[in-house]
Amino acid sequence: MKLVVDRRDGLAAAADACASGVFERTEKDDAFPRNLAPEDGTTQGLVRGAWEKKEVRGKRGELTIIHRPDGLGRVVLVGLGPRDRFGVETVRRAAAAVVKGLKGRGARTLAFRLPSFVAGRVRAESVARALVDGAVLGGYEFVRYKTTTDSGVEEVTLALGAKLGRAEARVKKAVAEQYDLAETVVWTRELANLPADTATPERLAEEARALGKEFGRTVTVVDEKKLAEMRCGGLLAVGGGSVHPPRLIVLEYPGRSKRGRTVAVVGKGITFDSGGISIKPSLSMAHMKFDKSGAVAVLGILRAAATLKVPPRVIGVLCCAENLPGGSAYRPGDVVRTYNGKTIEILNTDAEGRVVLSDGLGYVVANYRPDEVIDLATLTGAEVVALGDDTAGLVSTDDRLARGLLAASSESGEPLWRMPLTDYHRELVKSDIADVRNSTEIPVAGMLTAAAFLESFVGATPWAHLDIAGPAYTTLTTKKYQPAYQNLGATAFGVRVVTRYLLDAARA
Ligand code: BES
Ligand code: MN
Ligand code: ZN
Repeated sequence: MKLVVDRRDGLAAAADACASGVFERTEKDDAFPRNLAPEDGTTQGLVRGAWEKKEVRGKRGELTIIHRPDGLGRVVLVGLGPRDRFGVETVRRAAAAVVKGLKGRGARTLAFRLPSFVAGRVRAESVARALVDGAVLGGYEFVRYKTTTDSGVEEVTLALGAKLGRAEARVKKAVAEQYDLAETVVWTRELANLPADTATPERLAEEARALGKEFGRTVTVVDEKKLAEMRCGGLLAVGGGSVHPPRLIVLEYPGRSKRGRTVAVVGKGITFDSGGISIKPSLSMAHMKFDKSGAVAVLGILRAAATLKVPPRVIGVLCCAENLPGGSAYRPGDVVRTYNGKTIEILNTDAEGRVVLSDGLGYVVANYRPDEVIDLATLTGAEVVALGDDTAGLVSTDDRLARGLLAASSESGEPLWRMPLTDYHRELVKSDIADVRNSTEIPVAGMLTAAAFLESFVGATPWAHLDIAGPAYTTLTTKKYQPAYQNLGATAFGVRVVTRYLLDAARA
């Protein structure tokens, strides 16, 4: 999707469609909205007519499409819902609703009349950001394997209108930044949606190398031979049952200044999770191609960091393996020695994410001494049970880091909810024969015992864990509960919130 910023009013911008926001009408507030006068003018009264016939009610996501009598495209009214519930999320969803609603209807260019979406205390640049975010993300579809597709909006114009004054520079900067970020989310979704026959650990390594080349950075790929030399027993155990060998992938973005902070971002990259010998039931097993979503989000975060030149130095680590029950697969009862020397008793080969992450976390802490570590992982079904499929679980041993991520979350539209980590959970992951065990006998607090396990590989470094099992992807059944800008499939959850965090909170 292309983006243009135009100072004119949207109605003059000559797009195939021009969209304006409308609040939900109530008994008390039922007069024709004054700010729709320009729309009414260009349609020679058709907008007011639609209002008076109660065709326009302003319900969230409602679309009214009116052709201009002069033949110059159409006016689109999008419902914003109740005025007192208005916020950036409303705008993001409205923008997505317009782009989706115009799909297959012959509109190639679309203008948003910015002033009609600015209300309450929300600043013009936040509204502009949300319009760009919603339009780009709402317009994305995974069409790589389709031989026929409907065409949709290809170019979005953000029409500032005349009265922006001093806010104009701020809006332009915000929009440029948000556009780059949203494009990276789309790039990340495309990779996350690839099936496991294509997106093997080595393929993810190739993607990382290509990204490194694009930004002139070196990328380190540790193959199975080198993993054995480095004693990365976790990755080797989990990847042992597949013909596609495991990979540890490390990318580095240097940051804006030499003496800045270093943030490590570590992702779970299980290209397919069959459960291994502790095999999963076949119902929904196809979803497990998305078990690489954390690692792919790390690639997206590094891409966004380099594009937007975030202040801190960022180290990205992808822990990639395929969890299959082959003849050389690891088994329940095995004991695995990981990179930092700690041992894991395997009780369930389906609790494989924490096993590969143990190597990645141990590696990055020992070799880069980061100021903080953030990991992203589709780690537990328990996260989905606890928080559903739009919110990620946040577990952190550091209040400053947690607060920074929560602040970035409310800005970015990716919800997080902080969960506790106590000695109770730490006790549950102790093993009788090794340092830790990868599963507990009785399934209690599954999200938090997994977090306690990870914590033991991070040590004292400030650390935050994002369990993205729910929000990483949508399915036919979950889609209707998802925000309108999430399509079927991968959401690339984590790219927006962590990049926002790197831009705002982790000042170099
Ligand atoms: N990849 C799964 C978690 C998952 C479940 C992600 C549903 C997305 C949707 C993970 O590897 C897993 O299998 N976890 C087990 C752990 C258990 C065996 C301790 C789980 O949560 O059941
Ligand atoms: Mn599993
Ligand atoms: Zn998994």
